[in-house]
Parts: sequence; structure tokens; C-alpha cells
Amino acid sequence: MTTQDREATRAYYDQFGDAEWNRLAKDVAGRVSLEVHRRFLARFIRPGSRVLEIGAGPGRFTTELAALSATVVVTDISSVQLDLNKRYVGATDAEAAVEARELLDVCDVSRFNDGEFDAVVAYGGPLSYAFEETESALRGLLRITAAGGVVVGSVMSMLGTWRHALPGVVQVAAAFGEDVNDEVLATGDLRHLAGAAHVCKMFRARELGDLLTVAGGRTLAMSASNWASLGDADVLKGLEADPDRWARFLNHEVAACAEPGAVDGGTHLLFAAEHA
Ligand SMILES: C[S@@+](CC[C@H](N)C(=O)[O-])C[C@H]1O[C@@H](n2cnc3c(N)ncnc32)[C@H](O)[C@@H]1O
Repeated sequence: MTTQDREATRAYYDQFGDAEWNRLAKDVAGRVSLEVHRRFLARFIRPGSRVLEIGAGPGRFTTELAALSATVVVTDISSVQLDLNKRYVGATDAEAAVEARELLDVCDVSRFNDGEFDAVVAYGGPLSYAFEETESALRGLLRITAAGGVVVGSVMSMLGTWRHALPGVVQVAAAFGEDVNDEVLATGDLRHLAGAAHVCKMFRARELGDLLTVAGGRTLAMSASNWASLGDADVLKGLEADPDRWARFLNHEVAACAEPGAVDGGTHLLFAAEHA
């Protein structure tokens, strides 16, 4: 990750601002993604845990961590996102769970001690902006996690994004050329798209699992976000309007997302890992 990549990411999320708060609420697929992430978190965060939240954004999951009776050091690379976190979380009871708010790059956790946190949470893709430093970033997150603790995160998914965003991918191929498109599909690295407004790295599950292993971790679980809920929005709205059918759908969806055959199929790829 070059200084230029880092500054571009910071500027992107500074400018993205409040839209980040709406990302997981504005449509059905976003609301399902929130639920998949929320339930995955609940599987791994024990009450009383001290958690480092990286790339916290406006605080959808700061609130969830507070609801799970954790205390949270809230961090982000963007000062605008940290201010939004203070605004949204600060207006709720969840604020009592916030120990501190700090600027932090996922690639540099050197200010924290070995094993200082019971859990580290990096949801919504901070690790998708680490590029060449992903392995060392994961090593750093494991270092500051206590023995028996857990690193929970989500990154952008290469294969699921390709499937979901095929019309856009075809346009990219037309604009940048098929060779560039081949590179993006092979590597997940959007930096191949010269001049693109937003670049990040998308992962395959196999690749992420290998990185976790090399970084000294053991994968506990992976999940897609989403599986069936990237389909027909009108059908999904109909399901959502019926509380019983919606509860059943969410149960099926969360279970499907965790199937080995599905983990690559969503827009994001969730993982939980411990020390090997
Ligand atoms: C898509 S938002 C996710 C926010 C929240 N975690 C969620 O899942 O709803 C990604 C967040 O990661 C932050 N971020 C991006 N690159 C980062 C980095 N290198 N280190 C720490 N945070 C980063 C952004 O500023 C942004 O707030």
C-alpha cells in the first residue's frame, strides 16, 4: 500500500461521509448484509470482551458490539468517519461501551501491546485497502489479540462481486480493455483500472484462508454476505414485508452464506480467525 493509496482511501471515505451510515440500511440486500454480519459477530464476541474495532465507520457495528456487552476502542483511517461515529453512537446508550476513538490504519497497530484485546473486528473492508500489506496487517491484528481471542473481519469478495455486478464488469472491460479485465478478475485488484475513483482489493476465500495461515492464524469460520439476497429486489421486498417469512428467510440466508459452496458467492467475505 503506497502513501498515495492510503491518502486516496482516506479521501474517499472522508467524502463518502454520511452515505456510509446508509449503506447497510438503504435497500434489502444491505439490510440482509447487516444481519449476516451482526449474527456472525455474535458467534465470536463474548460478553465483557475488550474489542479493537478497525474501520468502524459511523458505527453500525460499534452499536452491535455494545449490545454484546463488549467495550470498544473505536478506530478509523478517516477523521470524518470517526466524527460520524461519535455523532451516531454518541446519541445512544452504546456510547457507554466506547473506551476511546482514535485514527488508525489497519496496516499499523504498533501502538498496541501484544494480546491487548480479546477481539479485533475489521468489518466492511479495511483489509481490502491494505493491498501488498494484507499479510503483515493480519499478522499485526493477531499479535494484539489475546490467546483464545479472535480476529473477525470482512473483505470485498471477488467472485461474488463479479456475479452480482456483471453489467458493470462488462462495461469496465469495454472501457479498459479485456486484458485489464483479465488482470482484475485474476487478482481482485482494482488498481489495474487507471484513474478509477475508488480502488480496493477483492478476495477469493481460498486466497484469504492462505493469507490467514501464513500470518499465523487458524480460520474458525467464513461466510458470504449475501447469497440469495442479491437477486430480485421486488421479491425480497415482498418477503421483508411479512415478518414470519422474513425471519425464516434470514435464517435460511445466514445458514446458506456459511456453506463452503457459498462463501465466495456474496459481495463480501466474512472470516473469524484465532492464533494457530
Ligand atoms: C465500508 S466502511 C465499513 C464501516 C463499518 N465497519 C461497517 O462495516 O459498516 C469501510 C471503513 O474502513 C475505513 N478504512 C478504509 N481503509 C482503512 C485502513 N487502511 N485502515 C483503517 N480503516 C480503513 C474507512 O474509512 C471506512 O470507514
